[in-house]
Amino acid sequence: MTSNMFTLAHLSDPHLGPLARPPWRELFSKRITGYVNWRRRRHLVHDPAVLATLVADMKAQHPDHIAVTGDIANVAARAEFTAGRIWLDSLGSPAEVSLVPGNHDAYVRGAAKHRIGQWGGHMRGDDGGSEFPYLRRRGPAALIGLSTGVPTGFFMATGRLDAPQLNRLGSLLDQTRDEGLFRIVMIHHPPVSDAPRQKRLLNAGAFKTVLAEHGAELLLHGHDHLRMLNWLNGPAGTRVPAVGVPSASAAPDGKHEPAAYNLYRIAGEPGAWTCEAASRGIAPDGDMVEQKRTMLVGQG
Ligand SMILES: [Fe+2]
Repeated sequence: MTSNMFTLAHLSDPHLGPLARPPWRELFSKRITGYVNWRRRRHLVHDPAVLATLVADMKAQHPDHIAVTGDIANVAARAEFTAGRIWLDSLGSPAEVSLVPGNHDAYVRGAAKHRIGQWGGHMRGDDGGSEFPYLRRRGPAALIGLSTGVPTGFFMATGRLDAPQLNRLGSLLDQTRDEGLFRIVMIHHPPVSDAPRQKRLLNAGAFKTVLAEHGAELLLHGHDHLRMLNWLNGPAGTRVPAVGVPSASAAPDGKHEPAAYNLYRIAGEPGAWTCEAASRGIAPDGDMVEQKRTMLVGQG
């Protein structure tokens, strides 16, 4: 590997706990189902100690940048945005950590102002703008962050990309390709998923069409809480790896995929990029270990 290597860490869906009971005025909404869900089973899955172990291991790798693809919160209670801000700050400064929101961060309509107020710095483009998709340039990489987190009805966890986001995504992909950057798209919902329809990205087809026309070197997502790799079509026979990670706080309980994160080592130049993904996860004994290494782009 060459000396111009750029290391990006990707984690997702920390679902920070423990979740205190939100004030009653906040529970008169979809939040009530989420809160009941948390009390019944989710608090057994998402373990703050597991998340702390994962974050410590990730920081020990000294990544150049950290990508977080959403679902910091559980029911988008006001207190969760404050807790999320403290947690984000523990990862790194807004310049070092790029966040895109998930459906649990946009659970109810009133969540947006608290989300932007507390987490806005981590979701802002280099131009200072707060619209999605945002663009950040870091080393050889262009980080492009999309928002699929829209408030939905009870028992729904769907995502959607509106037309302005899709149009702007196409322009940013073209622009950053022309600048010779390694283009990384960050999105909460996966474009390809086996999840039930009420959990999927509703207009995944339109999103994949944009990628097929404009291309990208890498796509990072969360949401399904699974280690995933799907190859999407890019332009002129190229392919775009779409990679998902389990929840960063999932306890190794034998029922859910245990917590893991990915480290991407990116080097090279346009036409000769290399990108190796190393997946580090929590073993049954609670230790973090490298579990898989995959060359996603180039021969290394
Ligand atoms: Fe999630």
